[in-house]
Amino acid sequence: MSDQIRWRPETLAVRGGYEGDSLTRSISVPIYQTVGYQFADTGHAARLFNLEEPGNIYTRIMNPTTDVLEKRISLLEGGLGAVAFSSGMAAITGAILNLARSGDEIVASTSLYGGTWTLFTSTLQDYGITVRLLSDDDLAQGDQAFNDKTRAVFIESIGNPRLNISDLKAWADLAHRNGVPLIVDNTFSTPYLERPIDHGADIVVHSLTKWIGGHGNALGGIVVDAGRFNYNTDRFGYYTKPDSSYHGLVFANLGEAAFITRLRVKILRDTGAALSPTNAFHILQGLETLPIRIRQQSETALLLAERLSQHPAVSWVNYPGLPDDPAYRNAHRYLSDGLYGAMLNFGVKGGHAQALKVMDRLNLWLIVANVGDVRSMAIHPASTTHQQLSPEEQELAGAAGDLIRLSVGLEHPEDLWEDLRQALES
Ligand SMILES: Cc1ncc(COP(=O)(O)O)c(C=O)c1O
Repeated sequence: MSDQIRWRPETLAVRGGYEGDSLTRSISVPIYQTVGYQFADTGHAARLFNLEEPGNIYTRIMNPTTDVLEKRISLLEGGLGAVAFSSGMAAITGAILNLARSGDEIVASTSLYGGTWTLFTSTLQDYGITVRLLSDDDLAQGDQAFNDKTRAVFIESIGNPRLNISDLKAWADLAHRNGVPLIVDNTFSTPYLERPIDHGADIVVHSLTKWIGGHGNALGGIVVDAGRFNYNTDRFGYYTKPDSSYHGLVFANLGEAAFITRLRVKILRDTGAALSPTNAFHILQGLETLPIRIRQQSETALLLAERLSQHPAVSWVNYPGLPDDPAYRNAHRYLSDGLYGAMLNFGVKGGHAQALKVMDRLNLWLIVANVGDVRSMAIHPASTTHQQLSPEEQELAGAAGDLIRLSVGLEHPEDLWEDLRQALES
């Protein structure tokens, strides 16, 4: 496995983390659709439960199919290890619960996916975890958001829905000089476009439901740990003090493996948001083609963004690959290979009502509340995902009434353009 660290993403996507099944010699990763594993004897069982010996105990905390997915994504992200979850939201919740308790605080970017936003500003608050929001523009004064209760910083590499590209190095410096790890949601970039750990992130989370699975048929999430952050400090007392649920185990004594071990054997064990082995298989199969999908989808998205910017019925286009886009500079600092991702936003002249008319005239583009599929999808956030917000709040959240959001799939670019053009012109 150590050789695989040197493999390029294309090789890792199809081969990483799997050296064949010794029993069957299956070249496709087998689906181990089992809950339990037979222990050799009672001594073996006791040693596994006491973490004295590695091995499978119960599928809520580990499974051989899921294990390949965890190793493969960890290799792609340049991490020490990973733990898969049943959805992206479960992965984000797990990462936060592994760092913060009631009375603690988190600092997060204002540019967040709506589900993360409500988790942070509502549900976590209900359980006593306060989230302080900080915009990209306020980074220079960011230190003011920290105190001795702060436990982590959370951002998205490419923000959903604004498509801003976070200055990872600046956020990592801010987190580290205030003694806490940086968590990056890398769902919109995928490890093919951007590896946050290379720029100072400590923890990476993904919704595997989107581009990594890529086919809109399986929910999943994952947390990858770089294994670099030192939890052996007073701020992380629950890592340095004996844990009563493990006969007094001190997680900080596990060194670089402290965070990822605690995440699996305590947080995943106790919250139970495990990925199903069959979903792990579907996601692994999708992952095999991630590099070629991202390449094609990014190329199509750039072409559509350029054409939309020239169209008289369009008032503005937001795509990180357009030279006048605010994200263009950071795109060149952080995204690889001149690819800018599969998401783009545009505004329809005539506002909310006209945007709805354009949506209803689309034929090939599917109206769907999901992104990252091989099928192209459009949504009007102001009347769907963001309909509970006032017009002012919609504007702030990057979901104004004239905005249509596109997730570009793998159909022929000209077919996609013709459908957009007829919807704008008819
Ligand atoms: C950036 C981002 N993170 C996390 C999630 C949550 O993922 P899931 O739907 O798998 O829970 C989403 C969902 O759209 C997302 O866009």
